[in-house]
Amino acid sequence: MNKVFLIGAAGTAYGKSNLTARDLSMLASKHAIENAGIKPQDIQASFVANAFGMAEKQGHLGPLLMSSLGIPHAPSSTIEAACCSGGSAFREAYVNVASGFYDVMLITGTEKVSHLDTLTATTYFAYGGDYLFEGCSGASFPGLYAAMARAHMHEYGTTEEELAAVAVKNHNNGMFNEKAHLQKKITVDDVLKSPVVADPLKLFDACPFSDGAAAAIIASEEFMNRNGLEKKISIKGSGRSGGSGSLHTREDMSSLESTIRASREALGQAGISVKDLDFAEVHDCFTIAEIIAMEDLGIFEKGQASKAVVEGRTAINGEIPINPSGGLKSKGHPVGATGVGQIVEVFDQLTGNSGKRQVNDARIGLTHNVGATGGSCAVHIFERE
Ligand SMILES: CC(C)(COP(=O)(O)OP(=O)(O)OC[C@H]1O[C@@H](n2cnc3c(N)ncnc32)[C@H](O)[C@@H]1OP(=O)(O)O)[C@@H](O)C(=O)NCCC(=O)NCCS
Repeated sequence: MNKVFLIGAAGTAYGKSNLTARDLSMLASKHAIENAGIKPQDIQASFVANAFGMAEKQGHLGPLLMSSLGIPHAPSSTIEAACCSGGSAFREAYVNVASGFYDVMLITGTEKVSHLDTLTATTYFAYGGDYLFEGCSGASFPGLYAAMARAHMHEYGTTEEELAAVAVKNHNNGMFNEKAHLQKKITVDDVLKSPVVADPLKLFDACPFSDGAAAAIIASEEFMNRNGLEKKISIKGSGRSGGSGSLHTREDMSSLESTIRASREALGQAGISVKDLDFAEVHDCFTIAEIIAMEDLGIFEKGQASKAVVEGRTAINGEIPINPSGGLKSKGHPVGATGVGQIVEVFDQLTGNSGKRQVNDARIGLTHNVGATGGSCAVHIFERE
């Protein structure tokens, strides 16, 4: 496989937007092209990550995006893997460039859902799980993650206060991210007193419904050499795994096999262990998801991650900062954009552009993006050159 570099990345603010997913995708892509220091004409192909285009009556966003960039001939397809659409699109682009098929690719994730009421949005989201067996019997994502939280509590004695500590940390980080959806400092007490969404998860245990877009550009070493571009960030590992699309068929609901497999693949390719990571952006759609992610990635032993959060070991100045961006919980979760947005955070961190949330001497960062309750997972590892 050829060496591949992350050469540009940018995102819009996350939150409620009056713009369409199409307009948001254009803004993020143009900004990423600018900071990559290339011309749109250098882009040979693209993937667009978008899960709910039909909620805006607009599928097939790729050709519209490519036309707006002045490159209508460049092929572009939508990749949909629920909340893992962004990570999956990035993986597919990586495979294309690493194999030598293309030299430069654009990956853009975008979503717009804030025009939907809560019930409609929740129902659309549930289509990304096992809708016939789970969603249509009322088990939407808050309910399914609540079941995972209960399983983890039963198995390891995890408490609601420990889950709340994840939300407090991510809201603290989000306070330093001017593009975050929920820029609000909260306490453990605020979380515990917030309205119950699906017991034991409360409003402040959940990520919000967000609009937003994020874009990344990757290029081959040959392209970089030919154009005299500075190699700032290399992609060291790419892991992708499927998992059972349903929660009710699993023997263990306190762990995601797809995370275990995808992280092993990515770490193996990179030739490093989790101990070498300087920070990670993980998929914290609910507070329990961050706990499970850290354990499945191998950052902490099973049953130990929640204690580590309470002890401040995952804070920006801790031993392994988790979600310095604020994560899905505070930065927001525009579904198609999320996995690419995690890579934007890595780009900013590894180029020293994260302002007050900058991780000290960040050299190696990991992204972890999950679809539904683990039916899809993508893990990527990046290193500053
Ligand atoms: C938790 C949830 C049900 C709340 O939705 P909602 O009832 O429509 O919330 P609203 O948009 O009406 O917001 C009500 C208030 O709560 C706040 N809020 C909404 N979601 C929030 C969240 N997740 N965390 C903190 N505050 C939140 C809003 O800012 C608003 O505050 P304000 O009145 O001061 O402006 C919804 O955000 C949700 O389902 N999140 C999970 C999404 C999901 O499943 N993603 C996929 C994961 S796999």
